[in-house]
Amino acid sequence: MSRLAREIGSDFHLPDRSAISAGSGAGRVLLSKGVVLCASGRDALHAAILSLRLTPSDEVLLPSYLCEDVMIPFVERGVRVIFYGVSSCLEADWEDIRRKVCPRTKALLLIHYFGFSQSSTITFMSQTYPEISLIEDCSHALLSRRDGAWLWGGADVSVASLRKLLPLPDGGLIARRPKCVSGGAPVVFRRSLRHGLFVGCRVAAAGLKGLWLRYPFFPKRLFRRLFSWSEGLLSASPKPARMSCLSRRLLCSADLEAVIATRRRNYAYLLENLQADETVRPLFPHLEEGVCPLGFPVLATDRDGLAQALIRERIYPPVHWELPRSVDRREFAEAWSVSDRILTLPVDQRYTLEDMRRIVSVLRSYREVPTE
Ligand SMILES: Cc1ncc(COP(=O)(O)O)c(C=O)c1O
Repeated sequence: MSRLAREIGSDFHLPDRSAISAGSGAGRVLLSKGVVLCASGRDALHAAILSLRLTPSDEVLLPSYLCEDVMIPFVERGVRVIFYGVSSCLEADWEDIRRKVCPRTKALLLIHYFGFSQSSTITFMSQTYPEISLIEDCSHALLSRRDGAWLWGGADVSVASLRKLLPLPDGGLIARRPKCVSGGAPVVFRRSLRHGLFVGCRVAAAGLKGLWLRYPFFPKRLFRRLFSWSEGLLSASPKPARMSCLSRRLLCSADLEAVIATRRRNYAYLLENLQADETVRPLFPHLEEGVCPLGFPVLATDRDGLAQALIRERIYPPVHWELPRSVDRREFAEAWSVSDRILTLPVDQRYTLEDMRRIVSVLRSYREVPTE
């Protein structure tokens, strides 16, 4: 395979000006009544905690399969975090939830992993524990639908990071059911220089990456460093902050239906051509109607070996996720078993079927499957 094959994966670059002005404007549909736009998923989680008036005397149930960024807002606000188990296909363990609910439990958070719905847990919770507030994290499932309607909006509070699926410098969302708006605290945003610097840094990084993809005459580390600084600035900025005007503009111009169609097409191609076996297999082997996938997560027996084989061919698959240390390895063996083997193959709107063929071809040589 050519050394100059184009890079697949890693951070989004900024769309060029012509793409912004030519966009269909379909992204406006996310700006419906009741949706509040924030700077990031973490900002949306902070807004949710404040809105639900969670205090240090309250407990929140979080899934044992999560990233640190989801947990930190609760820890920073002093809310006691209790984990519940998930199965090997990341479904919530309802028996474990029953064991862990107590009078201090005020909220439960669930994550629609990789774009796939966890709505059965919403039904279970609202029927069994109607007094507990449900927060759904739709960061991976922002563009997924169920029975024709957006998946988000099914819980008391929906939160999402918009940067996972769309090329925006910043962005998050919180949508609350009317009873949570009237009974909860209003969302009050904070302004800060750090947030401004975070956005500026990401715009510079994403802009430089776009330039590098066309004219690779300067080192990648220039924009890699800016991306990494921007994450530090986001972590340190006061929350919740409002989404920047630039991201609002980009969101409004985004053609969401094209994003959804490309992601589904690429996912379907990998499903059809991957030839699953024990060494590498898809975590979600069915692409149901309405799902808009974040990526194509696979479980590999030698995850690090597979990652190296892909990186050698300029394909950069993220690990979603290294679990926080506070998730106990013995109690949550299923979650750790997924975390130790998972790798996400990129299928996003930047990539063509030719790119998917390259991924399949690297996987085939990695497993040394003789071609028929
Ligand atoms: C499921 C999920 N929720 C929330 C977040 C936080 O989003 P942000 O990075 O925009 O703060 C992340 C970040 O990776 C995430 O994966």
